[in-house]
Amino acid sequence: MMLTRPDASITVHPLTRRIGAEIHGIDLSQPLTAARLEALHDALMRHQVIFFRDQTLSHDDHKRLGLAFGRLAIHSGVAGLPDHPEIVAIHADANSKFVAGETWHTDLSCDAEPPMGSILSLHRVPENGGDTMFASMYAAYDALSPRMKTYLEGLTATHDAEHVYRPITNDPTKRFPCNSHPVVRTHPITRRRCLYVNSSYVTKIDQLPKPESDAILHFLYVHCMNPNFQVRFRWEAGSIAFWDNRCTQHQAIWDYFPDVRSGYRVTVAGDRPV
Ligand code: SIN
Repeated sequence: MMLTRPDASITVHPLTRRIGAEIHGIDLSQPLTAARLEALHDALMRHQVIFFRDQTLSHDDHKRLGLAFGRLAIHSGVAGLPDHPEIVAIHADANSKFVAGETWHTDLSCDAEPPMGSILSLHRVPENGGDTMFASMYAAYDALSPRMKTYLEGLTATHDAEHVYRPITNDPTKRFPCNSHPVVRTHPITRRRCLYVNSSYVTKIDQLPKPESDAILHFLYVHCMNPNFQVRFRWEAGSIAFWDNRCTQHQAIWDYFPDVRSGYRVTVAGDRPV
C-alpha cells in the first residue's frame, strides 16, 4: 500500500510485498530535514532497498546524502576516485572485461565491519537492459524450515575477498580482507533475523567439513534465488538505489554489452554482524 509521509512530504510506493519501494517527492541534492531523514530511514528499514528517479547529484551531494546515514566507508577492494576516495565509479562499456557485482553478493561482506548500506547513482544507462536484482534475506530466512533454521544456528562462514579482487589488481603486495560472520545474523535496527551468506565472498562454513559446507551453501544460494524474495530495478538516467547490505543481496545484470552504463556509489559504514 502506498504510504504518504506528510511530515516529510514524500510518498513511498512499495514495488513488491517483501522488498523494494520507490520514493517520490524528494530532491536528494538538497540537505535532508530531520523529518525526511527519519522517513527515508523508516522506508529503508521496512523495504530494504529504496529507489529514486530524476535525481542529479554532485559528488559532494552524494557524500552528504550518505553521511546523513552514517560514516562513509572506503572500499577495501578497489580504489575510489582520486579526489573523492569514498566514491567508487561503476562503469561498463565496449572495453569492459567484467562489471562490478555480476554475481549475487552483499557488498564487502569480507570486511570485519561490512557496510550498512550502499547508494548507487547512475547518470548513463543502456537503452535496454542493465537492471539490478535485489533479494530479501529476511524473506529467504523466514522461508527456511524450522529444522534448517536450527541446523544453521551458531554457524559462521568465512568471507574472503582475495579471489574477488586479486584478479583485478595490479598491486601484488595488496592484502584483501577475510573475516568470519554468522550464517544467520540479527539486523541491529529491526531485530529481524536474516541469512548472511553470499556466493561471491563466502568460501566455507567454518564448523563443517568442506563437502558438507559446499552442499549447504549450494542449497542456501539456490534457496535465496527464489523470485518471490526479489525485486528487479529498471534504471533510468538519474535513478538512485539505496540498499541495506545487512539484509539483502544484489546482482547487476550485464546484458547490454557493448553499451555504456555509468555512475557512482558511496558506501555507508556498518557494524560487525551478530
Ligand atoms: C554493485 O554491486 O554495487 C553494482 C550494482 C549495479 O551496478 O547495479
